[in-house]
Amino acid sequence: MNPACRATYSVSETLVDCSKCGHLLDIAYDWNRVPLPGSLKQFESRWSSRRNPLDFSGVWRFRELLPFARDEQIVTIGEGQTILQSSAGVGKYAGFQTGKLLLQYEGLNPSGSFKDNGMTAASTHAHMVGAKVAACASTGNTSASLAIYSSTTRLFETIVFIGSGKIAYGKLSQALDYGAKTLQIQGDFDDALKQVRDVCAARGIYLCNSVNPFRLEGQKSIMFRVLEALNWEVPDWIVVPGGNLGNSSAFGKAFFELKELGLIHRIPRLAVINATGSNTLYQLFEQHKIRWNGGKLDEAKINGFFGQMDTDNRRASTLATAIEINRPVNLLKCLRALEVCDGVVREVSDEAILEAKAQIGAGGFGCEPASAAGVAGAKLLREQGVISPSDQVVCILTGHQLKDPTSTVAYHSVDPARLSAIATAEDDAYATMLSKAGVTQTPAANRPIVVENKFESIMALLDRIGC
Ligand code: F0G
Repeated sequence: MNPACRATYSVSETLVDCSKCGHLLDIAYDWNRVPLPGSLKQFESRWSSRRNPLDFSGVWRFRELLPFARDEQIVTIGEGQTILQSSAGVGKYAGFQTGKLLLQYEGLNPSGSFKDNGMTAASTHAHMVGAKVAACASTGNTSASLAIYSSTTRLFETIVFIGSGKIAYGKLSQALDYGAKTLQIQGDFDDALKQVRDVCAARGIYLCNSVNPFRLEGQKSIMFRVLEALNWEVPDWIVVPGGNLGNSSAFGKAFFELKELGLIHRIPRLAVINATGSNTLYQLFEQHKIRWNGGKLDEAKINGFFGQMDTDNRRASTLATAIEINRPVNLLKCLRALEVCDGVVREVSDEAILEAKAQIGAGGFGCEPASAAGVAGAKLLREQGVISPSDQVVCILTGHQLKDPTSTVAYHSVDPARLSAIATAEDDAYATMLSKAGVTQTPAANRPIVVENKFESIMALLDRIGC
């Protein structure tokens, strides 16, 4: 990943960073040896052979575009059956012409998030190298995904490291239910990730966070499916929430490779959206103007930024707990993707995230808070005139609505009058939670209506609300 360092390693290694330059590794292929199709459309022939699990998988039906494994080595549980949908309500809310804002529902994966696209690839590589134990740190979805691959395939045991307190219950329940050994670290995600990296290196445990370059190969397929849904037309914008920056990095790599291979003729623009309480990329890219710069980037400035973060003991804090991350490990790869895709970065408040989430829910399927950051970001970029109302925009909804029911119920049920005064809200868990996150209003709330347990009262209520 350091362009100056030409070190290469074989596919049978389990390194995540280069032992020479210390940077994260990247997967490179000798494309001359790959039987590539002449056009992306040719992948459609796999629709008729879906009985073959590799052709059914929304990741591996594009296997020539991530050709690191032989067919018999591939581990799949039917991931990537996800769809691109148009939602008139959400599009209008975000300021777009009808049909111009599309939502890619990655929450419809087996473990309920986009992570399965990457975990099938990491599990495949773990299988290739004969790993017996795999581990990850997680804000919740990575652990749920790794745990489901471990429990369904029985190829390896799983240990997941989570921070204390911040994991949404839907996700924690998955790791526990799928039988992963779950270690709760007294710290946040950034602490848990540091620990798991050290532990995996010391014990020879297979590491499944997005520092693992094979994960990102699988996540490229989200973009292949988006193109497929658009009849292989390239959209104008891809908008994605940014946490550890694995997705944005993978998307940039996907488009770069497709263009190099002559399979697409233009690259869409990329918008990465941070939560305001967890905005390292926004600060570095938009405020400090850090650029990939063909690989000649100002690493001293980046290190200075993180040094100051440590000195100030600044910790990430957002209700979008999936992206509550201050030290995104894929920062450099994401900066490269932003250069390839002429990208932008924005930050959005928790209030904007929850409002967008309610709009997405009202439009169908729904998503978790982190995913809604993308739509909130698309709305902001529209208001700023960066994206035009007629641009074709695809927002990636990264996680399922049921992952974090607490934030959904809090938003819809809290009495807005309670939000302005946190002091008086202390006795109400939902009001406290929202107030602490800076949420002062809930205009898209669909509040439950309390009614007497009496037929006449219910009928009178129905008359009043016009049903
Ligand atoms: N959306 C959801 C629902 C996530 O779970 C994550 C990351 C992101 C967005 C951010 O994606 O890291 O590729 O920028 N969740 C990780 C986890 C960190 O542990 O589950 P990214």
